[in-house]
Amino acid sequence: MAETTDVVFAGGGIIGLAAAWEAAQRGLSVRVVDPAPGRGAAWVAAGMLAPVTESSFGEEALTRLFLAASASWPGFASRLKTATGWDTGFRACGAIAVALDASDRAQIDQLLDFQHGLGLEASRLSATDCRSLVPVLSPAVRGGALMPGDHQVDNRALVLSLIDGCVRAGVKLTSDRVVSVSLDRKGAATGVVTEGGEIYLAGTVVLAAGVDTPAIGGLPEGVLPPVRPVKGHVARLRAQPDGEAFSHTVRGLVHGHHSYLVPRADGSVVVGATSEERGYDTTVQAGAVHSLLDDARLLVPAVDEWEFVECIAGLRPASPDNAPFVGPTSVPRLLVATGHYRNGFLLAPITAESVATYIATGSVPPPLDAFPVDRRFPAARTGSDL
Ligand code: GLY
Repeated sequence: MAETTDVVFAGGGIIGLAAAWEAAQRGLSVRVVDPAPGRGAAWVAAGMLAPVTESSFGEEALTRLFLAASASWPGFASRLKTATGWDTGFRACGAIAVALDASDRAQIDQLLDFQHGLGLEASRLSATDCRSLVPVLSPAVRGGALMPGDHQVDNRALVLSLIDGCVRAGVKLTSDRVVSVSLDRKGAATGVVTEGGEIYLAGTVVLAAGVDTPAIGGLPEGVLPPVRPVKGHVARLRAQPDGEAFSHTVRGLVHGHHSYLVPRADGSVVVGATSEERGYDTTVQAGAVHSLLDDARLLVPAVDEWEFVECIAGLRPASPDNAPFVGPTSVPRLLVATGHYRNGFLLAPITAESVATYIATGSVPPPLDAFPVDRRFPAARTGSDL
């Protein structure tokens, strides 16, 4: 039987890796069990850190969490860089939201009112302002808004830095899949059981397996929170051999469709994203590639000239209220950290800090304590309700 660690993480995506690294930084012995760390949704993501453009009507508490999460990013990126020497591509680039028609413009104006009501930093831009900030934008852009506090990290550089940081900090990375949690006679978690038939014992078990979390067995019914997969296709293009193709992340409303283009320092551009309720399917569909590129080229006509590098699809772990589940469950010594939906990268440092703090103190610190894992949701409507 494998040695015991202080903590075992089921899942080494962006959340599991960040929390494992943080726990190890605080002196805990840590194991992460994942068949391919960092190669799930974290590898697909665009890495936007967007507290303002991801804020939505009716989600004020979540917006407060996003702002706190954003504030923790510079320190986290700098600590990781000091520990590993890697540049994670964290950049305070700002974002602009742009509209292609009058209805898109009206929608951005409504969002601006909502954002101003919450005291968020966002200002209206004319069409000329938009093109001065991002000259590659189409002349068809009708105007938009500037969100100077929305930033980015290179998702893949971050994942690789975290894996390196974990290895340097002594985290054991175990290539296997957790299938169940083992419990003692009093019903407390004692470790995890893997597909490969191993048992890894630990003082605390953290389930951070994204959309796969609810399928982890061995637990009484109702312990694990409801998380569902929301598929996102993301394309990667190469605009130029080196140096960013434009400065700000572009969030477009294209005749009602949401689209984004995130310029990386290496001359590539990440184009996203579809949002599809299709269960656990990650096949890349021609129609999705077509619509991603079609919206992107309406915003930035030069897209037609850029190299197509790849399109892949991942599964966002969504919760019924779009807020994450981070903290203890009704099973002693069992935590979960999942449900980060569209904001896994933004929320990774604050989640990591909260998991490590919970293990040390027995309390989830604010603002994540506003979203207890056992919160209840209205029953889902079914077809017969409609
Ligand atoms: N955070 C953007 C997305 O999930 O597509």
